[in-house]
Amino acid sequence: MKIGIIGSGAMGTGIAQVAATAGNEAVIYDTNPAALEKAKSQLHATLNKLAEKGKISLTDAGHIFGRIFFGSSIHSFADCNIIVEAIVEDLAVKQKVFQDIEAVVSPHCILATNTSSLSIASIAASCQKPGRVIGIHFFNPVPLMSLVEIIPAIQTEKQVTEKAIEWVAFLKKDGVLAKDTPGFIVNRVARPYYGEAIRIMEEGIADCATIDHAMKEIGGFKMGPFALMDFIGADVNYRVTESVWQQFFYEPKFKPSFSQKRLFEAGYFGRKSGKGFYDYAEGAVQPQASPDTTLANEIFNRIIIMLINEAADAVMFQIGTAQAIDVAMTKGVNYPKGLLRWADEMGIASVVKAMDDLYDLYREDRYRCSALLRKMARENKTFY
Ligand SMILES: NC(=O)c1ccc[n+]([C@@H]2O[C@H](COP(=O)([O-])OP(=O)(O)OC[C@H]3O[C@@H](n4cnc5c(N)ncnc54)[C@H](O)[C@@H]3O)[C@@H](O)[C@H]2O)c1
Repeated sequence: MKIGIIGSGAMGTGIAQVAATAGNEAVIYDTNPAALEKAKSQLHATLNKLAEKGKISLTDAGHIFGRIFFGSSIHSFADCNIIVEAIVEDLAVKQKVFQDIEAVVSPHCILATNTSSLSIASIAASCQKPGRVIGIHFFNPVPLMSLVEIIPAIQTEKQVTEKAIEWVAFLKKDGVLAKDTPGFIVNRVARPYYGEAIRIMEEGIADCATIDHAMKEIGGFKMGPFALMDFIGADVNYRVTESVWQQFFYEPKFKPSFSQKRLFEAGYFGRKSGKGFYDYAEGAVQPQASPDTTLANEIFNRIIIMLINEAADAVMFQIGTAQAIDVAMTKGVNYPKGLLRWADEMGIASVVKAMDDLYDLYREDRYRCSALLRKMARENKTFY
């Protein structure tokens, strides 16, 4: 099978590596020749490094690199079976590229987009054959993250979805089906990890260091929310938050915070700019986490309950199955445990009570308990 990849940035390069490693031929093309040249030397260096470390043999590294071709125009995609688009996140630009590609490829070629935030239906709508368009959403860095969200649009033909599932399995990735709604699974369900942490900080209940400490030590998360937001960058994380909120017709539970907006406006993008929620300047004094374990437990409970509530809502609205959502959060953002498995362990009734306590206190829509959890508690049901 031959895979065409358009856009040789971070994602396109990773997708080419993974496809060629699995045994596909991969053609990669970028309108910017410098980006294509960079992808070529990067792929070469990465494969050699893997061989040096003994992860693959030198012969395999050569074979994998030999299966990657660097196209000179979109005409290089003529005999591809699947095209994966990984260009700039701009609907109009993507629509134009899909139209151009459609004029080049065979009628059976699948057209996939790696978009993180645009609707697949709106990209498909620009094509002559919208039924062949689907979302195949990889995570960064592609060779290391095993999750792939597969997102059929309402126009997508059933056999296109089936072929996409087959291809993702061939890549030895964990594919999950997600509904074409803002943020798909991961970028929706993860929102409270950031949003609720900021809310706790804004209310003065605890500072960044204490909240990060609670999520790491009690929850077992690899990175606390503030360290993670600084790693992702306020530019990216704030934009995603705002976009999900707007696309959900200004749903209050996804409302962005002023703290993050101000960081974004100030250019305090986190690690990459030297300052974010934390100060990364050399010698900067880092805040110390409070040793209060009761407080740490309260923080962890509040954030995990909000995450579980969002995951349950995503099940209720059939964004994904409970299993798909648990795979998505453990493989896409390295959560230590699936949120719905966590819900079962904590007890659905106690999750409902904790949400109702938050709602009673704040009387904000943001804290409404998922109807699915309430129904399950009444019926004494569990997710697994
Ligand atoms: N970076 C991430 O963490 C991540 C994760 C998942 C999905 N995505 C999505 O993947 C896509 C690509 O992201 P990225 O981070 O690799 O971007 P990037 O900026 O690293 O690379 C994009 C590349 O596309 C090229 N390009 C732009 N317009 C083009 C065109 N018309 N034809 C051909 N090439 C064109 C650019 O020259 C650039 O090299 C976006 O839709 C993004 O939302 C990104």
